[in-house]
Amino acid sequence: MPHPIAPPPDPRTGLALPAGVTICEVGPRDGLQMEKTFIPTAAKVALIDGLSATGIGEIQATSFVHPSAVPQMADAEEVISGIARRPGVRYTALVPNERGAARAVAAGVDAIDLVVSATDSHCLANTRMTTDQAMQRARGVARLGAEANVEVRVGFATALGCPFEGFPPYERVERLVGAAVETLGARHVNIADTVGMADPQRVHGFMRRLIGTFAGVTFSLHLHDTRGMGLANVLAGLEAGVTNFDASIAGLGGCPYAPGASGNISSEDCVHMLEAMGVRTGIDLGALLAEGARAKALVGHADSALLEAGPARALGPYRAPVAGEA
Ligand code: COA
Ligand code: ZN
Repeated sequence: MPHPIAPPPDPRTGLALPAGVTICEVGPRDGLQMEKTFIPTAAKVALIDGLSATGIGEIQATSFVHPSAVPQMADAEEVISGIARRPGVRYTALVPNERGAARAVAAGVDAIDLVVSATDSHCLANTRMTTDQAMQRARGVARLGAEANVEVRVGFATALGCPFEGFPPYERVERLVGAAVETLGARHVNIADTVGMADPQRVHGFMRRLIGTFAGVTFSLHLHDTRGMGLANVLAGLEAGVTNFDASIAGLGGCPYAPGASGNISSEDCVHMLEAMGVRTGIDLGALLAEGARAKALVGHADSALLEAGPARALGPYRAPVAGEA
């Protein structure tokens, strides 16, 4: 959901921030996919149902990948059929290929998140295809989505940094986005920093240029906090005009095919920062923290500052800045 009305810069800070953003909760997929011990389907479903009651608008609930590639996601169909679909929440799933897309459509997801790595080496490690091969096969995914009237969103893993190849040039990413728009008909493109290599300057530069080049495309950012730059990159993205962000409950996450990958930006930390700045997320932070505690208990670990420290002050879903407040 776009939020086109940006308020004037906050006179206290000079930051030009949007009035609101959409957070896509990716914890049930990215957060759980690295977990070695199989999490029972009922626990995954309970977490998703809990998250959908926080006011969040989008949840990437699972992935339809080969069960031997990511055993934790072997119950994708059961997860989708088990959740209580809450009106107003979009339930999406990650897919790597046509087979995954067919499974996702049959399961009844609201949108397909097709993932293609922007670098060949990560693409080969992740899906046994080069980037160009994956883009070719993506046509079949786009066709399946169009036939079933299910939106296909395209995400480029490693677009902002690859553990094998370093930083892909901007021109390569722009070419891939162009192909996603023209050949696949994508209207929503996700740009990922899969292993947390990007700094705010890179994020800002890439996103400003992409947004300037592809009018009418909604861009979202998928950021990992591997090197402590996650929330700084959110701010850089906001300033570049991005209003859609992925985040993961309790900061869980990582790609099993990317060495050194660690957690996504934590949903709680991200919502806290945004709401503190007056950027609306529609999410009840208290309810989200309760889900963070649930996720932490489920996997036995977390990477979330807010779960440790609690909010800086009471923040509701949105609280207008008080005049004169420092
Ligand atoms: N779900 C279930 N089964 C699948 C599948 C999918 N999405 N894609 C392929 N298969 C099955 C095929 O039906 C085929 O089965 P068969 O041998 O019984 O006919 C078999 O797997 C081999 O198919 P192929 O197209 O050659 O796939 P592959 O073995 O090269 O695997 C991927 C490619 C993409 C399916 C696999 O690498 C994968 O699932 N990767 C995802 C990794 C991931 O999730 N990373 C983290 C998120 S970024
Ligand atoms: Zn990720």
